Amino acid sequence: MEDSACSNASKWVSVSFARDSASIGESIQIRGWVRTRRDSKGGFSFIEVNDGSCLGNLQVIADASLPNYSSEISSLSVGSSIVVSGVVKASEGQGQSRELAAASVELVGLAPNDFPLQKKRHSFEKLREWAHLRPRTNAFGAVTRVRNRLSFSVHQFFQEEGFNYVNTPIITASDCEGAGQMFRVTTLPLDNLPTKNGKVDHEKDFFGKPAFLTVSGQLEAEIYATSMGKCYTFGPTFRAENSNTSRHLSEFWMIEPEAAFFELPDNMLLAERFIKRLLTDVLGDCSEDMQFFEERVQPGILDALRMVMNKPFEHMTYTEAVDILTASGEKFEFPVNWGADLQAEHERYLTEKHICGPLILYNYPKSIKPFYMRCNDDGRTVAAMDVLVPHVGEIVGGSQREERLPVLLERMREMNLDEKEYWWYIELRKYGSVPHSGFGLGFERVVQWVTGMTNIRDCIPFPRTPGSAEF
Ligand code: 4AD
Ligand code: MG
Repeated sequence: MEDSACSNASKWVSVSFARDSASIGESIQIRGWVRTRRDSKGGFSFIEVNDGSCLGNLQVIADASLPNYSSEISSLSVGSSIVVSGVVKASEGQGQSRELAAASVELVGLAPNDFPLQKKRHSFEKLREWAHLRPRTNAFGAVTRVRNRLSFSVHQFFQEEGFNYVNTPIITASDCEGAGQMFRVTTLPLDNLPTKNGKVDHEKDFFGKPAFLTVSGQLEAEIYATSMGKCYTFGPTFRAENSNTSRHLSEFWMIEPEAAFFELPDNMLLAERFIKRLLTDVLGDCSEDMQFFEERVQPGILDALRMVMNKPFEHMTYTEAVDILTASGEKFEFPVNWGADLQAEHERYLTEKHICGPLILYNYPKSIKPFYMRCNDDGRTVAAMDVLVPHVGEIVGGSQREERLPVLLERMREMNLDEKEYWWYIELRKYGSVPHSGFGLGFERVVQWVTGMTNIRDCIPFPRTPGSAEF
């Protein structure tokens, strides 16, 4: 505790520190935004201040004797920014242990009464229209802090496991997933395209050939895995897919580990350790925010996540899954038959009704998977693995990669891929090829799963979806 002579020089602390760590009698300063204010008959104002550092607000008591009480404090409106200096007191009110007795309240920026986030609750849909203000709500503050903690965990986990963080390109010429869902990057004049032999002349474009925003950093990550042993990417990826669902974004963040001398079972274990680590960190370090999701967003989420941490993930082949779905007697909108991709409803049945927890599905039909996956000896499946979880479905997609040069070339021919375009990828199999594997974890899908938020658009600060790129 500093002595009272220092009270004018009070130190600026976060609301989180003020609530949890400041000593009674300590002089502190906080800076934030007014969440609510009410006047007491006794001649003072209660101001709830939040600065984004935690879910809870700090209650400030401003006495009518303060010089700007009647000119400013008594009319402070919701959303205004203020700087408060004062002394920490034990709180007599419920729901908080400390409050701040203000020695001064400085108004920094007034928010007029048309500030949209008044006390009334708004739907998440409505709040999407206010992506510039929604982080000032409890829900989006909590999502932001959980997302932040998860990002940090991603790096902690892979660094501790000896993976190198590699930045793969955002602009690329190769379509990793082969699904043709790429956004084109061009500087060609769209209203006057240069042509050659009746076709667009791509040589005149910025890169001298067609270029796109990447759908995955995997192919480049494979370059680094086959030299550095273990690497991971964590960056934005883009898909021009016309999916208006609660789990698709056109721009999303993906974490892609890739490791050499790694086979499918190693890859599955890595994914499981990684996911469990993310849960451990969030449940341990974001308890106030997680309690909010439990109470306001998805009751039961805490127990469900704790259960995931305490059990090994279930494993099942694609073929077994098809048999279970076929025998389930459920009425699905999309029919289940061997060779067809599983739909969200099938994934949900498996994780929510059959297993009631995470599930690793592996050995998918090769006809529905990209060229780079390793062919199994049965001739019809590849060493693919997806991790499915309740409520969200697929959060991880990965595989062992085809490291055998002749098999890869054969696969590329089958899929009409131009070897010339992938010359460098092919050379990795020519010079010291090794079995290697990796996966991609959709970051927003994990945020969605962990928070229980219904829509993935509320799990990223600025969602991009078909027809929508505001902010
Ligand atoms: O299954 P996907 O397409 O796999 C790949 O891109 C591989 N190249 C990854 C690898 O092996 N390195 O995507 C990986 C994950 C999915 O499991 C899903 O969680 C997420 O990315 N994802 C999306 N998330 C939000 N919006 C979308 N449109 C997504 N598409 C995929
Ligand atoms: Mg996938």
